[in-house]
Amino acid sequence: MNEPIKKIALLTSGGDAPGMNAAVRSVVRACTYYRIECVGVYRGYEGLIEGDFEALSGRHVSNIINKGGTILKSARSMEFKTVEGRAKAHKNLVDAGVNALVVVGGDGTFTGGLKFIQEFNFPVVGIPGTIDNDIYGTDYTIGYDTALNTVVEVIDKIRDTAGSHNRLFFIEVMGRDAGFIALNAGIGSGAEEVLIPEKDIGLDKLEESLKNGRDKGKTSSIVVVTEGKKIGKSVFELGDYIKEKYPAYDIRVSVLGHMQRGGTPSCFDRVLASRLGVAAVECLLDRVSGVMVGVINNEIVLTGLNKAIKLNNEIDKELLRVAEITSV
Ligand code: F6P
Repeated sequence: MNEPIKKIALLTSGGDAPGMNAAVRSVVRACTYYRIECVGVYRGYEGLIEGDFEALSGRHVSNIINKGGTILKSARSMEFKTVEGRAKAHKNLVDAGVNALVVVGGDGTFTGGLKFIQEFNFPVVGIPGTIDNDIYGTDYTIGYDTALNTVVEVIDKIRDTAGSHNRLFFIEVMGRDAGFIALNAGIGSGAEEVLIPEKDIGLDKLEESLKNGRDKGKTSSIVVVTEGKKIGKSVFELGDYIKEKYPAYDIRVSVLGHMQRGGTPSCFDRVLASRLGVAAVECLLDRVSGVMVGVINNEIVLTGLNKAIKLNNEIDKELLRVAEITSV
């Protein structure tokens, strides 16, 4: 990084997450504070390739801290995966006089950012924004806390109807390959079982647990299941499998889907996003590039983008124990 940082571009990419707007606001306001320019890029890397830019001042981001989604919009760009696509994007940035880039997103977003540094020696800093909480180098990703609260609120409602009908519910939650949402929402909503890719309990244990619950007088049960095939069966296959073996169980399946990504961000996500936005701009001003800003033990921590991509955020074993003990 040789030239002084005078203009920063900012984009949000991958699955949107509540609190991304708070991060956008924070980056823009930090730029204003440090008297540098900020350019918003629409639709993530797609917009970078098409030159879909807009200069953003502090006032452009008024009244967005409380809004879900992302005002910059988001996309998963196939063209940015090609050298030609990235070259177009780089040219657009240089033509616009931009000399650093902040990207908000998950693994895929950071992979694009890292390529950009390697190919063009262009400064990039990442901010972790995904409801999945699956990014190494931060205790929490932006959007995760809000998504958890949304899931718990919905499971509470499902529990009302499950209890009224003495039903067994299989509820699928998001998380792609990670069980953070399922495990924590499972504990928070008092689920009987939680199925996550990080710890396959197996069908025998699931059946045993459901039977034990019945024997102990439980009339309804909630099983929270992480999306994807990683746990062996889809949530519908699980429902069918249990129904076939235990015809007496009254079973329903509920897939929560994209409602988990929307809604007003929690205060936790707004504060996290505000801290990370400021930290990202300060990194670039300090001539630090190729890192993701995160929060570990409530301190801002920088992690190399390559490490953030390669390593996985581990599930806390203590939580697995708590889930087991509190669901007896
Ligand atoms: O990564 C966030 C996430 O919401 C995952 O939990 C989910 O698997 C995926 O995005 C869904 O992506 P899309 O909105 O592109 O279907």
